[in-house]
Amino acid sequence: MTTQKPSPSRLAMVPFVSVAHMMEIVNGIGSAKMMTELAEYIERDFRRWESFDKTPRVAAHSNEGVIELMPTSDGENYGFKYVNGHPKNMRDGYQTVTAFGVLSNVDNGYPVLLTEMTVLTALRTAATSAMAAKYLAPKSARTMAMIGNGAQCEFQAIAFRALVGVEEVRLFDIDPAATAKAARNLAGSGLRVVPCRSKEEAVAGAEVITTCTADKQYATILTDNMVGAGVHINAIGGDCPGKTELHRDILLRSEIFVEYPEQTRIEGEIQQLDPGHAVTELWRVIMGEEPGRRTETQITLFDSVGFAIEDFSALRYIRDQLERTGAYIELDMLADPDDPRDLFGMVRRAS
Ligand SMILES: NC(=O)c1ccc[n+]([C@@H]2O[C@H](COP(=O)([O-])OP(=O)(O)OC[C@H]3O[C@@H](n4cnc5c(N)ncnc54)[C@H](O)[C@@H]3O)[C@@H](O)[C@H]2O)c1
Repeated sequence: MTTQKPSPSRLAMVPFVSVAHMMEIVNGIGSAKMMTELAEYIERDFRRWESFDKTPRVAAHSNEGVIELMPTSDGENYGFKYVNGHPKNMRDGYQTVTAFGVLSNVDNGYPVLLTEMTVLTALRTAATSAMAAKYLAPKSARTMAMIGNGAQCEFQAIAFRALVGVEEVRLFDIDPAATAKAARNLAGSGLRVVPCRSKEEAVAGAEVITTCTADKQYATILTDNMVGAGVHINAIGGDCPGKTELHRDILLRSEIFVEYPEQTRIEGEIQQLDPGHAVTELWRVIMGEEPGRRTETQITLFDSVGFAIEDFSALRYIRDQLERTGAYIELDMLADPDDPRDLFGMVRRAS
């Protein structure tokens, strides 16, 4: 007589959102609407900043890149993202940034979601940038320069159109093929797309400058003379020790806004400054505790590195889409014996 192998219990199952599911969710909702909704989730979590456990992300550096874990918890849920950053990857046909993440129930520690986060990171980064720009960019901003036209580029452009009212995006990349790709993808987005042959041409007339390049070095994507009065800089690509995009003189002329200072001082543009240099936490601006843009002529800089709370918000958002979209499968991910102590017996009965 053969004994039947135990089948996984209901408690063993964790919803898994694959890349294909994520694309189904994005295309079903629409990327502009989804980033607008993500920005609302992120903003809501920034408004309860003090209720989160916070730590600089845990980074494992190598010569070619970094692998990072980004955990946080609000006491009810716990979330983390695994993410890499390898600027040389693109040359070998790999993505610079890939990610996946988990959301768990703090009460019993069981995961409630496992999801791809490569696409989701691009969406949440753009949503965060545009949300910050609502508080920091000039109200009249209609033109954005986009320097670096890789994986993040189109998401940034679409989020700034949806949330900030940008109408024209001026593209520049050292690789013209990247600019041509972005221009192609943005056709029909409602944005006026202007491919440029130099950084100088790209920033001409732009009230917002987004730098979104990938290079593992202290790069100088913007020099001081390229940044005029009143501009808002959305600096995305300087996000690791030894990896920056802006000349130090620009930082000295700017009002600097950051996510979590303890992490940004290690990874952001401000690693070039004295550790005591004054910065403003974005959540305080959102709460009305600190001013955002004060004058038409000041230069504002969002020194973005990407913080765990943004990923937590994105994980919450995707969890909330599961029932409505059905875009997931149940993964037999947790060993869950009928008798919680009989893990060994469960393994033996499966033989
Ligand atoms: N702050 C955040 O939250 C956050 C989130 C995601 C990614 N990032 C960072 O953003 C950057 C871009 O990410 P990606 O996924 O788009 O990378 P990617 O490799 O797909 O694209 C980067 C682009 O930058 C271009 N580039 C490199 N040096 C340049 C220069 N000197 N001038 C103009 N263009 C240049 C490359 O040709 C490439 O097209 C990376 O550095 C990544 O680490 C930050």
